[in-house]
Amino acid sequence: MDKVRFSAEINGEQVDLLIPQNLRLIDLLRDYLHLTGTKEGCGEGECGACTVIIDGEPVNSCLIFALQARDKKILTIEGMGSLEQLHPLQTAFLDYGAVQCGFCTPGMLLAAKALLDKNPNPSREEIKTAISGNLCRCTGYSKIVDAIESLTGKEVNSK
Ligand code: FES
Ligand code: FES
Repeated sequence: MDKVRFSAEINGEQVDLLIPQNLRLIDLLRDYLHLTGTKEGCGEGECGACTVIIDGEPVNSCLIFALQARDKKILTIEGMGSLEQLHPLQTAFLDYGAVQCGFCTPGMLLAAKALLDKNPNPSREEIKTAISGNLCRCTGYSKIVDAIESLTGKEVNSK
C-alpha cells in the first residue's frame, strides 16, 4: 500500500513520518514511535486503556486512524511526567493507592488530566463520568476517584 505523509506534535516534539493510510493511531504510537505506555486492551473502544489526549480531548487511539490526528497535538503518558518529575496526578495515584497492576493507569491518568485541564474543580460525579470509559479490573475505582478528587480546586501544573 502507498504510504502517506503524517506529521503531528507528539509530547511536544514534531514528528514527521511516512505511514500506511490505514494505520491506527495506537499502532503509530506503539510500533513506530515505541511509546508503549499507551496500552491496547480491547481494540474496540470499550476499555479506555489506549486513551491519549488530542488537542485537549481524550480519545481512544485504537478507534481512529493516525491520519485523523494529522497536524494535531497529541499527548501520551510518556509526555505527562517523568521519573524525575511526576505529574501531580501521578503522585496522587501513588499516594492514594490508585494503581495495582497498572494496565489501566496511563489511560486513567490521561482521562483525568483532560478533565482537570478543562474543569479544575469537578464534582465527584463529574470525575466518575470523565473516567467512565476507562475500565479497571483491580482497584474498584474509589481510590482512583479519591486521587483525582484530591487535586480538585488546586492548580495542577501540567503540559
Ligand atoms: S484498547 Fe482502545 S478502548 Fe480498549
Ligand atoms: S490497576 Fe489493574 S486494571 Fe486498573
